[in-house]
Amino acid sequence: MNAADYQSFADAWESRATIRTRPRRVLENDDKLIYPLSRQPLVLSETFLRECPQLRDFALVQTLYKFINDVVIFETEIVDKTARSIAKNRFAVEFPFACRYDAMTVVVDEDYHALVAMDFMQQAIGLTGISPIELPDEIELSRAIPAAVALAPEHLRSAVELICVAIAENTVTGDVAAFAKDATVKQSIKGLMADHLLDEGRHSGFWARLVRIYWHTASADDRHCIAQILPVFIGHYLTNDIQKSFDFRLIDALQTNDATRHALKNEMSALAFPINRHHPLVANIVRFFRSSSLLESPCVQTALSDYLV
Ligand SMILES: [Fe+2]
Ligand SMILES: [Fe+2]
Repeated sequence: MNAADYQSFADAWESRATIRTRPRRVLENDDKLIYPLSRQPLVLSETFLRECPQLRDFALVQTLYKFINDVVIFETEIVDKTARSIAKNRFAVEFPFACRYDAMTVVVDEDYHALVAMDFMQQAIGLTGISPIELPDEIELSRAIPAAVALAPEHLRSAVELICVAIAENTVTGDVAAFAKDATVKQSIKGLMADHLLDEGRHSGFWARLVRIYWHTASADDRHCIAQILPVFIGHYLTNDIQKSFDFRLIDALQTNDATRHALKNEMSALAFPINRHHPLVANIVRFFRSSSLLESPCVQTALSDYLV
């Protein structure tokens, strides 16, 4: 695909973007869950179910706060930054106006997602009376993207940034999808996730097309150089340190005894996913490498062989 063939999705954005079409959602005061059990393995662990099942809702609301905090960081610090520089034509890779216009709709969508997330944070605190424990000030991508960009020569830094953001925008989508189907979760939370997912469907295709356009113009040397950086990025992206320290802080905040806390930490440590082809996000990442055409290049196939089935 060439830059000249790029078709804007501006019409679809006008008719379907959630900022254009959705009323504010209000958190229901009902007895459904505020966060899916399947997304916080702590509350499903043997020790938790035996020793402190009454703390389930506390643990779930804290996990919702962490999720919201992650969304705000991702949208405002990661995607907004890259999309905005494309829109403003400050990106080293030059894109046609239609791409830059679409990039601006991504900026608007992402900042709106952050706003909705902040609204839900306030609503959840108001409804439950539970304040958040200390939340992380970064997400895995806050480290993974700078680490990848630092490995690139000057002229490839923005291309690497573009590819990293495109990978991230193509992996969160499936992750959020799990929410939308869970009948035990509050309707407004599911609606929040479904709204977000609708916008992200547009974004994932957008980023894949930009990467495709870029890759088409990249020289063999540049492609080879970028291919070597990809596994480093993925390794940082899939690490579990930030989630693990949050889970440990959450366990420390549980009103229970030290022996239970110790057992919970042991059980959670055993659950970490390996950073290889068996990690649940890898299938999404590989799908992106196909849709963006990167995987057609032998240098990418070789560099990613650990992640390919
Ligand atoms: Fe978003
Ligand atoms: Fe997005």
